[in-house]
Amino acid sequence: MNLFAVLTNTGFHLAGWRHPSAWTDTMMNLEQYIEFAQKAEAAKLDAVFLADGNGVRDLDQPEIYKALRVDGRPSVFEPLTLFSALSQHTSRIGFVATAVTSFDQPYFVARRFASLDHLTGGRAGWNIVTGSYEDDALNFNRDAHEEKELRYERAHEFVDVCVGLWSGWKENAFPEDKATGVYADPEKVSSLNHKGRFYQVRGPLNIMTPPQGRPLLVHAGQSEGGRDLAARYADAIFAAVRTKAASKELRADILERARRFGRDPKEIKFLPGMTPYHGSSKKNAEARIAGLSELIPPAVGIQHLVHSVKHPFTVEDLDKPMPLLEADVIGAGSPRKLVNEYVRADAVTVRQAYQRLIPGLGLPIFAGTATDIADEMEDWYRDGACDGFMVGLPVVPIDLDSFTQEVVPELQRRGLFRREYSDGTLRDVMGYPKAS
Ligand SMILES: Cc1cc2nc3c(=O)[nH]c(=O)nc-3n(C[C@H](O)[C@H](O)[C@H](O)COP(=O)(O)O)c2cc1C
Repeated sequence: MNLFAVLTNTGFHLAGWRHPSAWTDTMMNLEQYIEFAQKAEAAKLDAVFLADGNGVRDLDQPEIYKALRVDGRPSVFEPLTLFSALSQHTSRIGFVATAVTSFDQPYFVARRFASLDHLTGGRAGWNIVTGSYEDDALNFNRDAHEEKELRYERAHEFVDVCVGLWSGWKENAFPEDKATGVYADPEKVSSLNHKGRFYQVRGPLNIMTPPQGRPLLVHAGQSEGGRDLAARYADAIFAAVRTKAASKELRADILERARRFGRDPKEIKFLPGMTPYHGSSKKNAEARIAGLSELIPPAVGIQHLVHSVKHPFTVEDLDKPMPLLEADVIGAGSPRKLVNEYVRADAVTVRQAYQRLIPGLGLPIFAGTATDIADEMEDWYRDGACDGFMVGLPVVPIDLDSFTQEVVPELQRRGLFRREYSDGTLRDVMGYPKAS
């Protein structure tokens, strides 16, 4: 199977940073990111993945701003810049960086990823996003984020231009022949001459073909436009699906779309997110989750609940019974279903509802010993629900250590995960043919 880890030095759980064993002094701490990447590489993981946005949020809500919250941290490294630094401290692990299509220019993005791919010897990947944070648009000459449909139309053209730019160079484009004086061969490079609805790009890109042909393309779309973008271009797909059945369904849908785009579904790796809570027993792991839930500030918990189930709760509601939310609201279907399950089983309060919702942050929780966690991973994998996982480690470094030193070896013993990297680029390690 293929395994990516979310690169974070504060942990995937919103209150993970408050755990006594969590790293301290995390702000702009390059050493911690290096240590994370090196530990992931020692465990032979395929790649580390860096999520991203372009804005500081919630400044108008001090109670939420104070905490580490769902909409991210106010001070983070720009992903490709961080990965350029990490590339000098690692040699095999892949780097999947997020870059947004709504505000950037395809020429710049194609160039930056080609640079990272060269700098890393073919270990770069791009998580293509249209931008999940509405107000980030205010930093880019706009009064509002574009409508989702339009964002995806733009994203299709954006990625298409990048793919075209990456293919503008033939092999041996630079003979550097001292005898003849031919440094660059004009026959080996071609312009793109793209004129579309959103972009006009002559090309060619001023950087030769990247070692992987093009970086690994990753997308996590759920909407119609997002699924189509993934089906058309993505080599790997991230997804936030709670259950094995939901994972199978989304995977089948995207693979079917890929077939319609003339692609071979075998070339697409489906990697749903998962968050492992390791413990000495299942009970101990569940106690860890409960302990972390106590550390979530109520304002942040409520904010998360309001965003997830799209219902206007306030802190006044904290100890009131959580109501059943029966209406079908766009974008809130799966969290509503989950919270309704808690209510039906246990009659939880509003506070308890977010305390149960937050540990997974929309992802399935695999809790227990290394054997328990490996069992669930094996079950999803063997049952055709995925090709691997994108792993969010709740408390760092302790969950990074338990995952890399206990869960991964258990997967290796079962023959489910590599013991050594194969030669070549990230694509080779992951088992893809070289892109043409
Ligand atoms: C694992 C995962 C990671 C994501 N990372 C980011 C990110 O870093 N930045 C971002 O703006 N959106 C991110 N997203 C959101 C997706 O790009 C996408 O908007 C979301 O899955 C909803 O799909 P839709 O846009 O088709 O509605 C991520 C989603 C998932 C599941």
